[in-house]
Amino acid sequence: MNNCEGCDLDSRSEAGLCRVQLASDGLPIMCVGAWAENKHYYLNRYCDMFAVGTKNKWPRRYYIDLFSGPGLAINRETGQEADGSPLIALLRPFTDFVFVEANPESLEALKMRVKPLLDGRHVNFILGDANDTLSDIVKNVRQQGSLSLVFADPFTVQLKMRTVQWLANHFRADILLHFPYGTYLRRVLTLTNLGEETITAIDEFFGDTEWHKLRSLRPNPHAYLELYEDKLHELGYMTGDNYPRMANSRNATLYYLVLASKDELALKFWKSANEIGPEGQRTLF
Ligand SMILES: C[S@@+](CC[C@H](N)C(=O)[O-])C[C@H]1O[C@@H](n2cnc3c(N)ncnc32)[C@H](O)[C@@H]1O
Repeated sequence: MNNCEGCDLDSRSEAGLCRVQLASDGLPIMCVGAWAENKHYYLNRYCDMFAVGTKNKWPRRYYIDLFSGPGLAINRETGQEADGSPLIALLRPFTDFVFVEANPESLEALKMRVKPLLDGRHVNFILGDANDTLSDIVKNVRQQGSLSLVFADPFTVQLKMRTVQWLANHFRADILLHFPYGTYLRRVLTLTNLGEETITAIDEFFGDTEWHKLRSLRPNPHAYLELYEDKLHELGYMTGDNYPRMANSRNATLYYLVLASKDELALKFWKSANEIGPEGQRTLF
């Protein structure tokens, strides 16, 4: 029996770390559901296409993870360990890395895991809220001759639209985003009374209050996704037609991954990354 069997989520810290056991390397590990494997599958395929496909044109290729986590995850059903997003990106030919994380324990574990894998490549670790550390990020990214892939994978609505806007204005970057439908919006938006704090968080996520009108119409999930996409389009991004859906074991939607880019080539890469799903089958959209 692995230590995860029978685990209740009370054994997980606020930052998602397992409180029952450390990882096999003796460091803190993130507790995840089985769907994290699918998220990592798509990230892995996109990183591969991005970093390899842009290598000849762009001498500096940055991977910027705004919600990095500790670098290693444990599947809370099987007890199996797997690389988190930062270690997945480190296996690809990016030249530079920026890792942002709000939780000091996770960031310290990440540093220990990342350093042996750098192979001379450049890295910056930033402790803090991804929305408030943008000037630190820009200090660490050389603009000339560089292209970035930003991965934004928070738990819920922590990525503010003003941050996405800032990225649109300051970086030549593709952004792979977690759209937290079932993990947050579906649950919260059906409540009759939303507290002030929740309303502000969702306003900041969408960048304005347009979602209030939508809520009164009780739309399907795609209406919120479409609204979010409209906001991205207003910032000059294209989003294409591929939104891999992460679901739990009862097939309930948790979240979608959305790629935002100003470059057609990125959308082609994302389409190819989506052509074969995690089960090895061709996907129809
Ligand atoms: C879903 S986990 C990230 C998992 C990681 N992307 C992976 O796939 O391995 C979200 C992480 O964001 C961190 N976090 C939460 N709010 C944050 C914020 N405002 N800024 C930066 N990090 C934050 C949490 O501590 C947690 O480690």
